[in-house]
Amino acid sequence: MKYEKLQAPKGVREYLPPESSAFEWVRENLIAPAKASGYKLMELPVFEDTSLFSRGVGESTDVVSKEMYTFEDRGGRSITLRPEGTAGVMRAVIEQNLDRGQLPVKVWYSGQFFRAERPQAGRYRQFYQVGIEAIGLDDPAIDAEVIAIADQGFKNLGLKNYRLEITSLGDSQSRAAHRVDLLKFIGGLDLDDATQSRAAINPLRLFDDKRPEMQEKMAKAPLLLDYLSEESKSNFEAVQRYLTAMGISFVINPRMVRGLDYYTGTTFEFIHPDLGAQSGIGGGGRYDGLMEILGGQSLSGIGFGLGVDRALLAAIAEKSLPESEFSSDLFLIPLGDSAMESALTIAQELRASKVSVELAFGDRSLKGAMKAADKSGARYVVVLGDSELEQGAVSLKRMSDGVVTSVKIAELKRELSERSSR
Ligand code: HAM
Repeated sequence: MKYEKLQAPKGVREYLPPESSAFEWVRENLIAPAKASGYKLMELPVFEDTSLFSRGVGESTDVVSKEMYTFEDRGGRSITLRPEGTAGVMRAVIEQNLDRGQLPVKVWYSGQFFRAERPQAGRYRQFYQVGIEAIGLDDPAIDAEVIAIADQGFKNLGLKNYRLEITSLGDSQSRAAHRVDLLKFIGGLDLDDATQSRAAINPLRLFDDKRPEMQEKMAKAPLLLDYLSEESKSNFEAVQRYLTAMGISFVINPRMVRGLDYYTGTTFEFIHPDLGAQSGIGGGGRYDGLMEILGGQSLSGIGFGLGVDRALLAAIAEKSLPESEFSSDLFLIPLGDSAMESALTIAQELRASKVSVELAFGDRSLKGAMKAADKSGARYVVVLGDSELEQGAVSLKRMSDGVVTSVKIAELKRELSERSSR
């Protein structure tokens, strides 16, 4: 009987060798600045009660209204695969009383998120984010630090072509004042029913409507940035001052609308123009009411989520991936049984001193093994046969230019550690 081949579900991104090394490198480099700033790991479930997201992320959002993977579990509970990370972090912080301890609570996370969007380049149904949240401190300095951490992540990848857009959604007083005028303005527009009901839940969402006729209609709409209270204004100015002091360039985009409803105050997005329609490589902002909505005390927080899949696409587009870092330092080819025994021990010793070594296994011809060495991308190749073992010396071949140096086996460790740190 012949079985049909199976395929991964539609819109799911998966990473296999050799590309997975680049993915891993991107993920680790994006999150490194958070670790260097005192953020600690939070490892959370990928599924939660559905109400966490409908309450936390907001019913007016596409994410909640159209894109959630929701199902009933065997106990009849409504469960949703997490579409984003902030709500889950908040749930855990409240549940485990972290908000009763030292503030701010500073955590980072990384993992898969799920949104049933229409798949296209850079937009997947299962995608990967790294993110941070700083909860319990309302201070423009931490807003600036959070943005700087994201920015450093992208800089770590060698990215240059992205831009940082920031705005402020102000405090509740600013938003209330703006809402009155915005609703008045929207009331004068001729809108279809679906758009009207979206506007009724969150009128700001109309700024995000991609249809040209809607963009035209909204061109003269009042902007929240013009309604900021004195406090919100000086807060936003402080964020800008801090960013400038840190040498982080940004543009103010007063029409920015984030895809999730919990944002207040400072909000930001990182845009990479080389990625076409899915150009958002990361985004975040402050969320004043979220903890309260989720049953906790009234504490503010700020954070971001960075798209690892898209950051990888950006690094590919900018050719900033250090391909050579993804391969081993040495490919070791033993000829014969006794050579294999020595090769295993030599490799073990080298690896213990952080030199990465791949061994050639099996009965391959020398030619076949050399081909495998070449394909592996390893920086150096050594062939280990009886004569090398007798002499206690090998020929170390540098693969980039074929240059061969004779090195004592006992000296291999020093030689390779020195060369790989160069
Ligand atoms: P978000 O803007 O919805 O924010 O997502 C953050 C990033 O995840 C986006 O900028 C994008 O790079 C990536 N992303 C989102 N959807 C997809 C998709 N379908 N395929 C590929 N990449 C995608 C949040 O999720 C917030 N939780 C961020 C945050 C944390 N705000 C405050 N704290």
